[in-house]
Amino acid sequence: GQEEILGIADAPDTCALQEAGAVLAAGGTVAFPTETVYGLGADARSTAAVEQIFAAKGRPSDNPLIVHIADPAQLQELVTGVNDTERRLMAQFWPGPLTLVLPVKPGAVSPRVTAGLDTVAVRMPDHPAALALIRASGCPLAAPSANRSGRPSPTLAAHVLEDLSGAIDGVLDGGPAGVGVESTVVQAAPDGAVTVLRPGGITEEQLAGIAASVRRDPALAHAGGTDSPAPRSPGMKYTHYAPQGALCVVTGRTAAAVSARIQAELDAARTRGEKTGVLSFDEHIGFYRADVAVSLGSLAAPEEAARRLYAGLRQFDEAGAAFLLAETCPEEGLGAAVMNRLLKAAGHHIIDADA
Ligand code: TXA
Ligand code: MG
Repeated sequence: GQEEILGIADAPDTCALQEAGAVLAAGGTVAFPTETVYGLGADARSTAAVEQIFAAKGRPSDNPLIVHIADPAQLQELVTGVNDTERRLMAQFWPGPLTLVLPVKPGAVSPRVTAGLDTVAVRMPDHPAALALIRASGCPLAAPSANRSGRPSPTLAAHVLEDLSGAIDGVLDGGPAGVGVESTVVQAAPDGAVTVLRPGGITEEQLAGIAASVRRDPALAHAGGTDSPAPRSPGMKYTHYAPQGALCVVTGRTAAAVSARIQAELDAARTRGEKTGVLSFDEHIGFYRADVAVSLGSLAAPEEAARRLYAGLRQFDEAGAAFLLAETCPEEGLGAAVMNRLLKAAGHHIIDADA
């Protein structure tokens, strides 16, 4: 494909949207902004269209896709039923960064979308351009994050082009994505028990306001080795969001111990001739000497850290940093999603500063 940048600064430009909608209706691929990250969309009902997503991303075929809808009525065409808990979650959080795994209606979407599972993941994005594009296309849109598989997810149209230029049919530019990390993926039982398969834009604290109980899929706590339990969200087993350098997360009982250990490791790496990077927060960033120092904002503002995380990881790649260390943030609110992505980016490699 010879992709076009269909610019829409803030308000969705009707002309660009109609054009992008027509490309999707004809079986093409268009990247578009959502409130979480940019997605790469295609008609979820068409296997030929969906195969272009897998090809462009280099995505493993056993990793199913999220289907994006703009209207509650579209759900009836996709799933066999919705239980009470699911209904309440949708009423509270749609449109928004919550994805529900629901029983798929046979034949409703391409089997490439569900990767052969009997469920389909569905969400209604909270972004005017995304909603307008879904309506303009007339399709339920399968849309994974619009990055090359294994790269940090795109939070700007420029990130999409960095990864997918030449491999897709168009990009709708809507400026920076809002939340910065992907949607929360959940499965909900009729009795109100909610299982988080992937932490994301809707926090566990928010879910607890609706659910009788909230638990994390036990597979989330593991590094994804052969001894780990199989995750219910197949995508969680892949090393996603990996920067090109080797990344480790540094933990410890005190911030001073963590900072001292990080600087010692950075100094040692520099002595070995490696280009170094550190991912930190405003409270500590001034402490470090590294080739690339990225702050995710204040430790007290996890929403800011979520917004900055993926662009920050891309900065290390741009600078060619080979040895990367990251601090942790509290796993409260969006901090849980930030730490989940950071640990995945590090392949769960952790240095304990107290050891
Ligand atoms: O915020 C988001 O969700 C973004 C934007 C573009 O909407 N999309 C996104 O899609 O993150 P993707 O493909 O990068 O991640 C989809 C996740 C994967 O972890 C996948 O395994 C899981 O959802 N998933 C999809 N279908 C599933 C299913 N039927 N059962 C369990 N997990 C499923
Ligand atoms: Mg992704």
